[in-house]
Amino acid sequence: MISKYSDQKEKIKEEEIEEAAREIAKGNLVLFPTETVYGIGANALDEEAVKKIFIAKGRAQDNPLIVHVSNMQMVEDIVESIGDLERKLIQRFWPGPLTIIFQRKSKEVIPNIVTANLDTVGVRMPSNGIAKELIGKAGVPIAAPSANVSGKPSGTKVEDIITELDGKVEYILDGGLTDIGLESTVIKVEDNKINILRPGKITKEQLEEVAEEVEVDKHVLGRVEQNEIVSSPGMKYRHYAPNTKCMMIYSENEEKMINEINKVTNQMQQENKKVLVIGRKEHLDSYLAERKWNVGETLEEVAKNIFTLLRKVDKEQVDLVIIEGVGDKELGLAITNRLIRACAYNYLEV
Ligand code: TXA
Ligand code: MG
Repeated sequence: MISKYSDQKEKIKEEEIEEAAREIAKGNLVLFPTETVYGIGANALDEEAVKKIFIAKGRAQDNPLIVHVSNMQMVEDIVESIGDLERKLIQRFWPGPLTIIFQRKSKEVIPNIVTANLDTVGVRMPSNGIAKELIGKAGVPIAAPSANVSGKPSGTKVEDIITELDGKVEYILDGGLTDIGLESTVIKVEDNKINILRPGKITKEQLEEVAEEVEVDKHVLGRVEQNEIVSSPGMKYRHYAPNTKCMMIYSENEEKMINEINKVTNQMQQENKKVLVIGRKEHLDSYLAERKWNVGETLEEVAKNIFTLLRKVDKEQVDLVIIEGVGDKELGLAITNRLIRACAYNYLEV
């Protein structure tokens, strides 16, 4: 086991990436940064290698993986065809945090385990320099889910995930804190219409600049009922949730939101229960809770910090965590999608 840490974050040496690429070629797993979150990568063309990802994460076999590429030839090799709208999206947003679901070519090119037997494949070209070089040097597309044990928040820095993944990957490329902090936007194009299956940094508003019709799948903010059919298998699974009970409270009116959060805090305190509030920096002074965490000021900062904070919640030993909602405009939609799952759908809009 040669897990290796770069002692100079963000200045990973050429040889380290080369060594990691050799591990990919040998059929082993590599932990690597992307601009969204860390990924656990394997050669997407090697069934045995990809199997190791599912074992390392404890991931359900019916949840397909995203295939990461570094050039268009790799895309042409694995997808049936690229439509006009898809080409426009690629031109505008790749390399970057957008995953496009395509019809896959023949079942022999990408093994069934990658796509969970679906006839589609999710593809993305990351913009992170280390990720790009790793894929380029490996010379093969890399299948990679977010780096976390299934159910936990995705890893945005190596320190957060080293304990749960150490010993499960052959090589670690430590690129420091990831830029965005939330996973990529996942979309599918059908009849010239874009369907957002998972919101991310590429927002609905940005996609509307390219396509006339952009729809947000009903399960992005809605609960998945038992046995309900979903457009993306990942929607079914518990995700991001700490063991401590969490609740999201939101109002378009900041004062109303703060009052409601204080009302719930008060009720808890009267029962001798401890509350932690996770909120925007400028609101923290207004809260009555004994513990308050600053999640950032802008939506970009919230996106970047939220997974690390969710991972720390259980250590606080409080009875309830109240998390401020951020609405559904622009990057807010992606944050809200993660928060309502972290809160196991326990949320209130006032
Ligand atoms: O930013 C990201 O996308 C990160 C980095 C590492 O690239 N990756 C990531 O992968 O978040 P993962 O496996 O944690 O999430 C992939 C999501 C899952 O919800 C999965 O169900 C969905 O994409 N997905 C993958 N292939 C699909 C397909 N063919 N059809 C529908 N959904 C698909
Ligand atoms: Mg994930």
